[in-house]
Amino acid sequence: MPDLRGKSLIGRFFHAPTRGRVEALDQALLKIGADGVIETRLLQTDEGFAEAVDEAERAGVLVRLPRSAYVLPGFVDLHIHAPQYPQLGTALDRPLEDWLQDYTFPLEARFADLAFARQVYTALVEDLLANGTTTALMFASIHLEATQLLADISLEKGLRALVGKTAMDDPAVCPDFYRDASAGAALDGTEALIEYIQGHPANKAGLVRPVVTPRFAPSCTDPLLRGLGELARRCGCHVQTHCSESDWEEGYVQQRTGRRDAEYLDDCGLMTSRTILAHGVLLSGSDMDLIHARQSGVAHCALSNVYFSTAVFPLRAALEKGLRVGLGTDIAGGPSVSMLDAIRMTVAASRMLDEGVDPALPPDRRGRKGARQDWRVAFHLATAGGAEALGLKVGAFEPGQAFDAQLIDLDAPGGTIRLLDDPADPEALLEKILYTASRANITEVWVAGRAVAGR
Ligand code: GUN
Ligand code: FE
Repeated sequence: MPDLRGKSLIGRFFHAPTRGRVEALDQALLKIGADGVIETRLLQTDEGFAEAVDEAERAGVLVRLPRSAYVLPGFVDLHIHAPQYPQLGTALDRPLEDWLQDYTFPLEARFADLAFARQVYTALVEDLLANGTTTALMFASIHLEATQLLADISLEKGLRALVGKTAMDDPAVCPDFYRDASAGAALDGTEALIEYIQGHPANKAGLVRPVVTPRFAPSCTDPLLRGLGELARRCGCHVQTHCSESDWEEGYVQQRTGRRDAEYLDDCGLMTSRTILAHGVLLSGSDMDLIHARQSGVAHCALSNVYFSTAVFPLRAALEKGLRVGLGTDIAGGPSVSMLDAIRMTVAASRMLDEGVDPALPPDRRGRKGARQDWRVAFHLATAGGAEALGLKVGAFEPGQAFDAQLIDLDAPGGTIRLLDDPADPEALLEKILYTASRANITEVWVAGRAVAGR
């Protein structure tokens, strides 16, 4: 499949621009500009459709998709720890605080070695793209050079990436072998990364963006958190951190500061309209009100939460409060690079919260009735919802949005979608795709019209 910049694409598309509703665009024509942005969208029933197809054909820019192909928006993964990719599927039975100290920090410390960083980050970026993830919000390690390399590799391979040098300076939580030398050093490193990415000669279109990245309140001294808040205000960059992930984490912040995690982050200037808070499992109603007032977003990491979060994120409550929510894999807290798994686990977790999990309790006391959310909601969050939380014009097939997309081939060799009976309607087909597709079914991936993965 060619590069689609300057081309017109005719085929079948699914997307979910608004929450709770999916749209099937059957035989739509998308005209994609030289910059990879969708210029026009015509449905078969629209006036001028046949003429536009003829015109594209005559101009030699028409690309027709085969019958077995469906185009979905690329996924937006709102929470990834890039240097943790080697520990995917490692020690998931350990509590968060031990997992960090015994596995994660020693691994992340190895990113002082740029050859190791190159090997890991190349594999990660290639695997994200091959799995249909076209936008990734990523924590890197504490090392400036390796984080710059992650930005370089993302640019080279065409991943839309938001990348932060992880900041962590508090000796009470961070080991000697893996810690910013001081709050000042962490701030300088963050500023240097911002300058590097914003001034990168290959980044004129802004495909990669820098992110202010305090790891989480327990790992940062108060001066560092306040300094990063001030830096975020000055530069207007995105911010990412963890918030209310587990009982240990919440308790630690409460004990050290006398505040709730969300209140403390806000006090430090870190809760902005460009902030993404990871997990948020234990957020209270008033925390959610605060996040809503600041227009911050939440990265819901349903699979990781099973292992490290000690509870289920109340997704429906957050959405009803009006919070901007997207989905994250939390590599490597969640042992899958695939946002299809994130979608599936989002639905499953909400069902467990709804029905409850303790069979010893009577059904009416077992769960939080009404908490369930369906696959339509999860699909929206994994695409347009995550994009909105980041303020990016991607995630749906609308004029003005960049063409970030993945082609699902029902007949791909090695694929796992079995259509043994005709689906009742297009929505039933999309449901089947989302529940049964795998990497082999994702045969093409584009970011801003550029072909970035596939056969
Ligand atoms: N909290 C602070 N650091 C981390 C991390 O690397 N993973 C997860 N899941 N939670 C964290
Ligand atoms: Fe995380």
